[in-house]
This record gives sequence, C-alpha cells and structure tokens, in this order.
Amino acid sequence: MNAEPIKEVLTRARAEVRKVIIGQEDVIDKALIAIFTGHHALIEGVPGVAKTLLVRTLARVLGCEFNRIQFTPDLMPADITGTSVFNMKTNEFTLIKGPVFTTFLLADEINRAPAKTQSALLQAMQERKVTIDRDTHVLSPNFTVFATQNPVEYEGTYPLPEAQKDRFMLKVSMSTPDRASELELARRMLGDNSPEEALAAGAVQAVISADDLSQLRHALGAITVREELLAYIVDVVRATRENESVLVGSGPRATQALLLASRANAALDGRDFVTPDDVRSLTEAVLGHRLVLRPEYEIEGVTIAEIVGKILEQVAVPR
Ligand SMILES: Nc1ncnc2c1ncn2[C@@H]1O[C@H](COP(=O)(O)OP(=O)(O)OP(=O)(O)O)[C@@H](O)[C@H]1O
Ligand SMILES: [Mg+2]
Repeated sequence: MNAEPIKEVLTRARAEVRKVIIGQEDVIDKALIAIFTGHHALIEGVPGVAKTLLVRTLARVLGCEFNRIQFTPDLMPADITGTSVFNMKTNEFTLIKGPVFTTFLLADEINRAPAKTQSALLQAMQERKVTIDRDTHVLSPNFTVFATQNPVEYEGTYPLPEAQKDRFMLKVSMSTPDRASELELARRMLGDNSPEEALAAGAVQAVISADDLSQLRHALGAITVREELLAYIVDVVRATRENESVLVGSGPRATQALLLASRANAALDGRDFVTPDDVRSLTEAVLGHRLVLRPEYEIEGVTIAEIVGKILEQVAVPR
C-alpha cells in the first residue's frame, strides 16, 4: 500500500463519520490518526458537543467489536476487567470477562471515577493484556481505548493520573459548534434525520476490517521522515522539559507519539513524506495533556496552548 490507497481509505472513513457528525473536521482527523496508528485517544469537551456520539460513530466505521463503559464514582476496577467466580458444579473458578475484553473500547466520562478505577485500564492500554487473579489474558492487537471527559473544572471530576494520561497518544478538544454547524444540527432535528437517528438507522458503513487496519499501519512505515525532522520532533518534546512554566514536561512516549502521529497526518494529506507542518499541527494535541504547569503559572492563567505556541517559536524549524 502506498500513499494513494492509504489516503483513499482515510477519505472514506472521514466521509462516513461526517454522515453523523457535523463539522468538527479537525477532531475527526485527529481521532482517525490515533486509530490508524494503533493508539488511544482522549476526547475532552463540555457536555453535549457529541463526544460520545463521535466515538460510537468511529466504532461503526471500524466495523470491529465494540464495548462501552460508563464511568461513575462507584465503579470498581473489577467492573472493567472482570472477576473469577467459583462454579459449584465444576468445582472451579471461571472468569467472567469484563467489558475491557473487546477491540474498541469507549471509556465514557473516564474522569468521573476515582484514580484506582481508572488505573484498571493501565495495563490493558500499554500491554494489551489484562491480569485477573494472577492469570494474564491477551487482548486483541487492535485493542484501542477512546476515553471522553469533561474539563477538570467541572464538578465531580477526578483528574486522570499522569501515568494514565501518558498512555493516550493525543487529547483532542471538542469545542461548541460554530453557527453554521449548529444551524445544520437544528435543521436535521426537524426531519427524521437527527445525528442519533442516522447512526441508529445504519447510515454509517464500516470501511475497514481488522486486516486492512494492520496493512494500513504497516504502510505508514513507507512514509519518509527526514533526519532533520526527527531531530525537530525530539527537540520540540525536549523543550517542554526546559520551559520555565512547566513542572513536568513530556516523556519519551511523547516523542514516539508525535513522530507516528505526524506520519499519519502526512498520509491523511496523501503525501509520502512528513513536513514540519505535520509536526506543528499535532504538537498541542500530542504534548498538551502530558504537561503539568507550575502552580504559580497556573494561577496566573498561563495556558497549555500558550506554552506550546512559545515552544514552537523557540525550536528552529528545519528547512
Ligand atoms: N457536531 C455535532 N454533530 C452531530 N450532532 C451533534 C453535534 N454536536 C452536538 N450534537 C448532538 O448533541 C447531542 C449530544 O451528544 P453527546 O451525547 O455525544 O454529547 P457528549 O459530548 O458526549 O455530552 P456529555 O459530556 O454530556 O456526555 C447528540 O444528540 C448529538 O446529536
Ligand atoms: Mg457523553
């Protein structure tokens, strides 16, 4: 598979998602980048901007097995991974598999559960394995988590632990729709064509199988990344560790993620080489959620977007 067929699949995937989701093009592309590189994504936004609907739609496009976990304050780790129960008939323990045993997992409103419960996903996300009562179970190689959350300022939210955030390739922020999109949404609500109904009625076709997905991931390896661009990516990530307003910068997972995401962005654009703009357009999404600001700067109201902007100004762009 070279650049053209990859672009074709991605274009079809985009078109299917857009049958349900109005606007939000940038969010859709970033979500596809996470999926096509085999990574997890975090989707943040205020209530009602179609976070859950987007992930449900993506599951259809992927045509793979799909589970959903609604996170609540009283959710227990075993509600995610599963439990062994004693079977009186056979005199043995049998495993009741939890919802994590799937291919595409929607962890809805993940920050409504306390850290201990969120952490039940850690091993599954990094190793694609789950350990229950000392037995380790292997998940699908395509196991992907898409988590949604409301911004931390919202009441009743528990911030994700740093280790958990680091496992998400990127965080995309969904903002409220622009006027044209909101008008289109209002129009669709009049007929029997609301986004929810369109999804329920099967308007969205699966465009890729599990096989296609692994081929596609393999094909991304053919996209060229010049040595200068590799250095650029490394320098951008390293600059987060030296920034005066940052307490904890991005770790090496961020370097891997920024590289792979940039390559997929080139594919979305139909190119077989990565440009500095691929890197720049993804820096905030890939690095932002991994940064911890120094409290004094946070109080002053310094934002992640500003810090990322500064870093991109500082690091010399390769020509
Ligand atoms: N851009 C959009 N495209 C299509 N539908 C939209 C869009 N924005 C909002 N909606 C509509 O808004 C409703 C809410 O969507 P959804 O439940 O996915 O929101 P959410 O972001 O998950 O909210 P919450 O944080 O409360 O769970 C849906 O009925 C959906 O059709
Ligand atoms: Mg929701």
